[in-house]
Amino acid sequence: MSYDLVVIGTGPGGYVCAIRAAQLGLRTAVVEKRATHGGTCLNVGCIPSKALLHASEAFEEANTHFADLGIDVGTPKLDLKKMMAFKAEGVAGNTKGVEFLLKKNKVETFHGTGRIAGAGRVEVIAEDGGNQMLETKSIVIATGSDVARLPGVTIDEKVVVSSTGALELDRVPKKLLVIGAGVIGLELGSVWRRLGSEVTVVEYLDRVLPGMDGEVGKQFQRILTKQGIAFKLSTKVTGVEVGKKGGATVTVEPAAGGAAETLQADVVLVCIGRTPYTEGLGLDTVGVQRDDKGRILTDSHYATNVTGIYAIGDVIAGPMLAHKAEDEGVAIAEMLAGQSGHVNYGVIPNVVYTFPEVASVGKTEEELKKDGVAYNAGKFPFTANGRAKANGTTDGFVKVLADAQTDRVLGVHIVGADAGNLIAEVAVAMEFGASSEDIARTCHAHPTLTEAVKEAALAVNKRAIHV
Ligand code: FAD
Ligand code: NAI
Repeated sequence: MSYDLVVIGTGPGGYVCAIRAAQLGLRTAVVEKRATHGGTCLNVGCIPSKALLHASEAFEEANTHFADLGIDVGTPKLDLKKMMAFKAEGVAGNTKGVEFLLKKNKVETFHGTGRIAGAGRVEVIAEDGGNQMLETKSIVIATGSDVARLPGVTIDEKVVVSSTGALELDRVPKKLLVIGAGVIGLELGSVWRRLGSEVTVVEYLDRVLPGMDGEVGKQFQRILTKQGIAFKLSTKVTGVEVGKKGGATVTVEPAAGGAAETLQADVVLVCIGRTPYTEGLGLDTVGVQRDDKGRILTDSHYATNVTGIYAIGDVIAGPMLAHKAEDEGVAIAEMLAGQSGHVNYGVIPNVVYTFPEVASVGKTEEELKKDGVAYNAGKFPFTANGRAKANGTTDGFVKVLADAQTDRVLGVHIVGADAGNLIAEVAVAMEFGASSEDIARTCHAHPTLTEAVKEAALAVNKRAIHV
């Protein structure tokens, strides 16, 4: 069997790459070891977590907010089994959708573990041990990432869980201890808090969401604390001991050293990041180089050091995000078809799908200060936005950072309802090299939350109207 391109892994990076390559006329095959396509994102990541975030938010709305809207539904009752079935339906709909798209684009699919036998050769090892050899001009590795482990802590997916286990719990834990105040910790911590858990988040650093704008992190932590999540920052976990009758004792101590204390939990969620996944690929045999974090090293054209082997998505450097993997998939497919694919790494939005949401694109204030870039900041709170007031969703703000000399937008950071959708207009504006003046002079519909983006852009030059 001979192809122009074999893609290993059908997560957002791999399946999008394969479809784009097929669109451009390349004879394309994919190899996937999971039973369903879609990778981490569709099976155990973006999609199931968003389904539970949606359902748990609706539960909380009914529980605490409906009465304020004049809707009396009594006390809502949780049917967790049904909620999980709702989540599973969303996952199945999406993974089947990818299967359909691969077929529609005439991408051949092989199920099994892909192992690179040499440049131009991929062996597919099926679960039953059977194998097939695929010959190909190019190979794209899109094998994604796996949960990062905490040394000495065994994840059993029952008491000590990764995100995968936390998306599958069969009852609401009374006490949930989350290790890591990153995206997974705050999203899944929010899900289980809404459903009734007492949630404590232990974070090694002195802030939540490291990497995001500092002011955003601070305000967001305040909001989550108000919602009932407890935080222990600057604290490290030194041990997790699972009890004989279930539950766990977690030992923590100040990150800077000091007296240890123990915390009890019914479930412990370990979410301290993810690591690139290259197991079973045979990289050492073919000599594909990796960096000290295990990420496959590529040049700006996604080429590894071995001719004809490329890599994209979570398995290479950069933010571990589905849309980043997808865009890289399109770019490499276009390059292999003789076009000039491109990803603008300066404009990759980052969204946390809690309530309120957090969304950012471009540089943070901390990064601009570190780089010595002079900038002006314009900020607008949702308390001053008409639609947010009408909806009763006034937590948060929009912050626009623009170059002091040129007024070019360098970064935008939002905490607020629907921030994940609001960030899209800014990403488009930044892609086109917009100034804050361009956003400020663009007519935004009233009454919408997008007016807060316009007002923050106006605030860059100190002429916001509604504050
Ligand atoms: P993956 O999606 O990991 O896919 C890799 C695929 O390769 C897998 O299906 C795997 O089975 C397969 N594979 C591995 N090795 C082999 C082999 N040797 N042979 C054959 N197949 C192989 N990102 C967002 O942008 N938005 C979100 O809301 C979001 N939410 C998330 C929530 C959670 C709980 C988690 C864990 C992640 C989330 N992410 C989110 C991150 C997102 O899932 C990843 O960035 C994305 O899936 C990376 O895509 P990928 O194609 O590089 O790899
Ligand atoms: P993360 O990198 O977002 O956060 C990990 C957190 O754990 C950090 O705050 C880190 O300081 C902390 N930490 C590390 N070691 C620790 C220790 N020993 N003790 C206490 N804290 C420790 O990683 P997370 O949340 O696991 O997510 C993994 C990846 O998945 C992210 O990189 C993200 O890109 C992706 N993802 C994206 C989502 C989205 O886009 N909405 C949702 C969920 C995941």
